[in-house]
Amino acid sequence: MNLLLKKIIAETKKYTKEGNVATYIPELGRMDRNISGVSIVDMNNNIYSAGDTDVKFTIQSMSKPIALLLALMDNGEKVFDKVGKEPSGDSFNSLKRLATHNTEIPFNPMVNAGAIVVTSMIKGNSKEEKFNRILNFFKKMTENSDLSVNMDVFNSELKTGDKNRSIGYFLKENNIIEEDVNDSLENYFKQCSIEVTCTDLAYLGATLANDGVSVITNERIVPSRYATIAKALMFTCGMYDDSGKFALEVGIPSKSGVSGGVFSAIPNKMGIGVIGPSLDKKGNSIVGIKILSEIVSEKKLSLFS
Ligand code: DON
Repeated sequence: MNLLLKKIIAETKKYTKEGNVATYIPELGRMDRNISGVSIVDMNNNIYSAGDTDVKFTIQSMSKPIALLLALMDNGEKVFDKVGKEPSGDSFNSLKRLATHNTEIPFNPMVNAGAIVVTSMIKGNSKEEKFNRILNFFKKMTENSDLSVNMDVFNSELKTGDKNRSIGYFLKENNIIEEDVNDSLENYFKQCSIEVTCTDLAYLGATLANDGVSVITNERIVPSRYATIAKALMFTCGMYDDSGKFALEVGIPSKSGVSGGVFSAIPNKMGIGVIGPSLDKKGNSIVGIKILSEIVSEKKLSLFS
């Protein structure tokens, strides 16, 4: 497997030249577009990797299914009174249909509006306690107790996140967010600024692929039903308004982020984490999708093959 991954990284390197690194969060614009890497963790905790797997980057939207798991553990499935389960077909930060959709709840937990609602539902007595619970849960899911927040990226998004603020205030006005809206936005920005490597992402995927059970300790981290929900929503909504195309071309539950990472959970088989900061027009990593697509076709991993 390591040889195959090395070959795939070499063959897909050229795609790091295509597309653009995200700059709407200014600090993200500093990422090196030339990096690319992949890690795989299987159900027996074997790790395979190639390329730039030591590089740290912020988790961004890849945090969304993980925060959803914690919100489900805190509130049960009444989370879905406040956020839907359907793909939106709109861009990840769209405001367009919030005001016109008849129920006014965000379409799903993978678009920004849905994710901000989800983060607002995570329990704790203060915003600090809520965030500590988020960070500790991410540490468990990644099997990495050293995770921390990149404060430069967090402050950069805090300063420039006006679109997310407008989404948050709209949701607050409609009582979809019941908690303090500024605290909820701050914790959402902070959760997006947690730093990870490809290997951390592969562990996230592996825990989900293993039905919510740690592949290292065999401890159950999340209930099976919630792990299923997260994988299903990653599959239908995880690659934003390219989720349908990705399902056809690659065919595995995956979640992307604007830092250029993608993580995948292939049920009962493996977790995969990839990085490549340059994005296509939908906000998904160009080289990351190529790497995933090569692995899936070489190993016949599509859920539909
Ligand atoms: O809220 C934002 O815009 C970012 N913190 C995360 C967006 C993101 O990763 C969308 N991904 N493709």
